[in-house]
Amino acid sequence: MKKISPVSRSGRFAHEVSADVAQFTESISFDHRLWRQDILGSMAHVTMLQKIGMLSKKELRAIVRGLDTIAKEIKAGKFKWKPELEDVHMNIEAELTKRIPAGMYLHTARSRNDQVALDMRLWLRDEIIALLGEIAGLQRTLVSLGEKYSDVLIPGYTHLQRAQPVYLAHHLLAYVEMLERDCERLWDCHSRVNVCPLGSGAIAGSTLPLDRVLVAKLLGFVDANGKPRVSQNSMDAVSDRDFAVEFCAAAALLAVHISRLAEDLIFWASAEFDFIKIADAYTTGSSLMPQKKNPDVAELARGKTGRVVGNLVALLTLLKGLPMTYNRDLQEDKERLFDTADSVRATVRIMAAMLRNTKVNRAKCAKAASDPALLATDFADYHFQQLFPPRTEAIAHELLYPVQYAKHFDPATGEMEQPVELPSVAEEVELLRRFYQIQASREKLKRTSKSSKAKKNF
Ligand code: ARG
Repeated sequence: MKKISPVSRSGRFAHEVSADVAQFTESISFDHRLWRQDILGSMAHVTMLQKIGMLSKKELRAIVRGLDTIAKEIKAGKFKWKPELEDVHMNIEAELTKRIPAGMYLHTARSRNDQVALDMRLWLRDEIIALLGEIAGLQRTLVSLGEKYSDVLIPGYTHLQRAQPVYLAHHLLAYVEMLERDCERLWDCHSRVNVCPLGSGAIAGSTLPLDRVLVAKLLGFVDANGKPRVSQNSMDAVSDRDFAVEFCAAAALLAVHISRLAEDLIFWASAEFDFIKIADAYTTGSSLMPQKKNPDVAELARGKTGRVVGNLVALLTLLKGLPMTYNRDLQEDKERLFDTADSVRATVRIMAAMLRNTKVNRAKCAKAASDPALLATDFADYHFQQLFPPRTEAIAHELLYPVQYAKHFDPATGEMEQPVELPSVAEEVELLRRFYQIQASREKLKRTSKSSKAKKNF
C-alpha cells in the first residue's frame, strides 16, 4: 500500500498513514473553499505575532508576501491542492513553509483547532450577509408583484377550502413578513458568529502574551459600537459549533417558508387554479406530454427544504455525544454547513427571478374571487351590525341564515336561486344586493391588507 506522510504527523509515528486512511480523513476536497478566510486569518495572526515581538518585520513581510502569492495562485486555479496534506490549513501552511522558511512560525501559538473555528466563523459571517441581501431581493420582488396587481382579489383559503376573498398582495405580503423574521433570526445569529476564537490554541490557549484584541480588530470581529469580540473560554471556542447549528436552524426555517411559497405557486400555476403564468424560461417541459409546462423551479425549491432540514438534524446529531473538546467528528460539520448555505442562497435567488418573470391571470383570479360563498362571513358581520345591534345567543344563531343566503344568492342577477326559509325575505335580499357590491367589499379588504407593516418598509 502506498505510504504518504502528512505534515501533521510528528516524529512519534513509526509508520506512515495508509492511503485509504488518508483518503478517509481528508477534508481538502470540500474545505478548500475556506482558503480566503484561512489566508486572511494567518495574515492577522502573524501581524499580531510581530507586534508582540515574536517575529521580525522582515519575517512578517516575507510571510505576508508569500501568503499573498499563494492566494493569487489559488484564485487563478493554479495552486495544486494535495489530499495527503489533509485540509486547507495544512495545504497552505506546508506550501508557504516550503517557499519561505519563516512560514514555520505561522503555527506559533495557533492550532488547527482554533484556526478551523476561525475560518468557519469568517466564512459564515460573509455568507449570512450575502444571504440577507438575497432575501431582501425576494422581499422586494414580492412587494413589486403585489403592487403591480394591487387590484387583484383571490380567494383566501383555510383547510385548502375557499374561505374569504383577499387581495393577492395581502397573500404575497404574508411571505414578506415571514422573510423579515428570517432576516431577524439571521442577524441575531450573525452577532454570535462574529466572535474571534483565535488564541484558544488546541484547547488551553497559549503561554505567549498574545494580543487577541488586535487580531479580533484586524479581522473585523467587533460589535456595532466597534468593541472587539473575542471568545471567553478556549475549550468552548475550539469545540463549539452552535453558531453553525444556529445558522442551519434559521436557514431551515427560511427554507420552510420558501417551500410554502413554492407550494402556493405550484397550485396557482396548475390548470385547476390558473392564477399565474410562469415564464417559459422558468419552467420545463415534459418529454412525453407536450401540453405540460412544469413549475420545476418551485418544485426544486420545495424539494431542497428536505436537505436543509436534514443538514440541521445532522449537525445536532454530530454534536450530541461529543466529549470536550475538539474531536475529529467536527470535520463533518463543513459539508452540512456549506450545503445549507449554498442551497438556501440559490433557492432564494431563483425564486425571486422566477417571480419577476411571472404574470397574474386577472380574469381567473376575479372569477374565483367572485364566488359568493366567499362573502358569507363578511355578510354575517354586516348583517349583525345592521339588523341585530344587541348581541344575544338567539341572534348569533340567526347568523346562520345569511350563510344560507350567500350560498343561494346569485350576484349576477341579484336573485335567489332557490327560496330560503326566512322571515322577511325581501328585506334580506335587498341587504344582500347591497352587500354584494364588490367595490364595497374591496374597500373593507383594503383596510385589512394595509395593516401589513412590511408594505411600508419597501
Ligand atoms: N480538517 C479539520 C477539521 O475540519 C481541521 C482541524 C483538525 N484538527 C485536528 N486536531 N486534527 O476539523
